[in-house]
Amino acid sequence: MGEGWLAGRRALVVGAGSGIGRAVVDAFRTEGARVAVLERDTGKCAALSASLPDVPVVAGDAATRTANEEAVALAVDTFGGLDVLVNCVGIFDFYQGIEALAADRIDEAFDEMYRTNVRSHIHGVKAALPALRASRGTILLTESTSAYYPGRGGVLYVSSKHAVRGLVTALAHELAPDIRVNGVAPGGTLGTDLRGLDSLGLGSRRLDDAPGRAAELAARVPLGVALSGPDHAWSYVFLASERARGITGGVVHPDGGIGIKA
Ligand SMILES: NC(=O)c1ccc[n+]([C@@H]2O[C@H](COP(=O)([O-])OP(=O)(O)OC[C@H]3O[C@@H](n4cnc5c(N)ncnc54)[C@H](O)[C@@H]3O)[C@@H](O)[C@H]2O)c1
Repeated sequence: MGEGWLAGRRALVVGAGSGIGRAVVDAFRTEGARVAVLERDTGKCAALSASLPDVPVVAGDAATRTANEEAVALAVDTFGGLDVLVNCVGIFDFYQGIEALAADRIDEAFDEMYRTNVRSHIHGVKAALPALRASRGTILLTESTSAYYPGRGGVLYVSSKHAVRGLVTALAHELAPDIRVNGVAPGGTLGTDLRGLDSLGLGSRRLDDAPGRAAELAARVPLGVALSGPDHAWSYVFLASERARGITGGVVHPDGGIGIKA
């Protein structure tokens, strides 16, 4: 067995084409894990395969049962099993509150937000469950500061992230003692491709393109730091490792200390 905090671990990272998920792929590999990927964007899949040819990639929609089953099967076939499931899929609403949301767009926007941010996580867990039970593995879901506080997203994003937080609690409770389930709750993050909802006409808008975002992120938090995917990736490494063997139903908050802001 090689060196590293995740030596010998077999992982599937969902939503790994850019941003936090992409950084998790690199950090996991640095720490000795073998990693497979499920990602919807075919351009990102091609880029990933070009730079990391030994990473098995499934191009598919993580909000569907079939794509998750296909990705889990590929990981299990390639690696002989699965120890870690990470989900980094997400979409944003650009802070639209209930006043701003047009009544005739709510149904579509709700469905797009919740299928992406919540249903994808449930399908991933369901598909990976037999393999993770067999390995006594672990699950990591991506929350956000929006899983704890208002103001960093709109009514749909904040509520969807509270749902992911609820999933961590419910799954950790149900799946102990076989499978540990934890969350990572990043603060505002630089260098990602996080997009808005198509159903609200925001699909081409990228949160990272906001002018002055790095300075604004740093000014917002007590530690005065603007964090990016590689900063967060170490929280996933820790929770996936044996060092965290006593932790389930928990969360790491790589957010610059936003919760202790005066
Ligand atoms: N960017 C931030 O400021 C921030 C802050 C806190 C939490 N988060 C959360 O971190 C996670 C990762 O976001 P990111 O900022 O790295 O954005 P990102 O867009 O760079 O990464 C998300 C990835 O998921 C993929 N994806 C989206 N929908 C998919 C689907 N249905 N099936 C398969 N793949 C799909 C995207 O193509 C992308 O590659 C999300 O859950 C997001 O809500 C982001």
